[in-house]
Amino acid sequence: MNRVLVVGSINMDLVVETEKFPAPGETLLGQRFRTFPGGKGANQAVAARRLGAQVAMIGCVGADAFGRELTAQLEGEGIDVRHVRVDVASSTGVAAITVSQAENSIVVVPGANHALSPDDVLAAEQAFREADVVITQLEIPLETVEAVAVLAERHGKPLILNPAPAIPLPATLCERVTLLTPNEHELSILSSVSCDAWRDQLAAHPGRVLMTRGSDGAWFAGSDGTLHHQPSFKVDAVDTTGAGDTFNGALAAFWGSDLALAARLACAAGALSVTRAGAQGGMPTDEELQRFLEAWRPVPEAG
Ligand code: RIB
Repeated sequence: MNRVLVVGSINMDLVVETEKFPAPGETLLGQRFRTFPGGKGANQAVAARRLGAQVAMIGCVGADAFGRELTAQLEGEGIDVRHVRVDVASSTGVAAITVSQAENSIVVVPGANHALSPDDVLAAEQAFREADVVITQLEIPLETVEAVAVLAERHGKPLILNPAPAIPLPATLCERVTLLTPNEHELSILSSVSCDAWRDQLAAHPGRVLMTRGSDGAWFAGSDGTLHHQPSFKVDAVDTTGAGDTFNGALAAFWGSDLALAARLACAAGALSVTRAGAQGGMPTDEELQRFLEAWRPVPEAG
């Protein structure tokens, strides 16, 4: 199993459940409030770890109760947190999440995640030497992501960039990325072309872009430009928060020579993740994933 280095955000998710999303200016009574560990970086680290990978994390929290709780929770999962820095000048990142009918809307206040600097990444260079694969996202400063890409390249390590939340990326960064994993909206932001053009975009970057498409599963182009489709696994969703992170963490855990196989396992892990509340609540262990796949019987397509 891979040694995975995750460089990314650590948030406390403040989750309210409501029957419907409020309209602008509207006040609603919700059903429940809970806090869950979150942040795309931490979520991907936990997903990879539960599936059996050795995981080290580079991140930043504030000197506050959330920061202490989240660091202890990552450690409790068996993740190496020696490179999670405490920034006394910031508060720990939070995400205000509204969940309704299994869908969510999220506002992230990055806090200490935006204090994670290129120097923090350089200070953890040893972790790059020890990794088999590096994964990062865009909830930390872009210059820090660029430093991650430089170090991954220097040490000859594959780099997965989950471009979420999406912004247009410099070409110098994209050239250093082994695999980009946008959803279709993120791909459209990255490529500045409409969502409808995703097939052409994938074919233009064989084996370099793997696009997730919610209930349609995942797509990428093989070396000859032919599109490969991994259908999703249909389950009863409780909370879709963190499904993409589970997919990405699993992809890193199963990273190897067979992208189609890694995509299948990642889709299955992502499906399981939505069956419980909280971004990390439903993330499966490797045993749970194997049992799910053994029991899986695809529903025949209509017609
Ligand atoms: O991808 C889900 C995550 O996005 C949440 O856990 C939240 O913290 C935000 O970062």
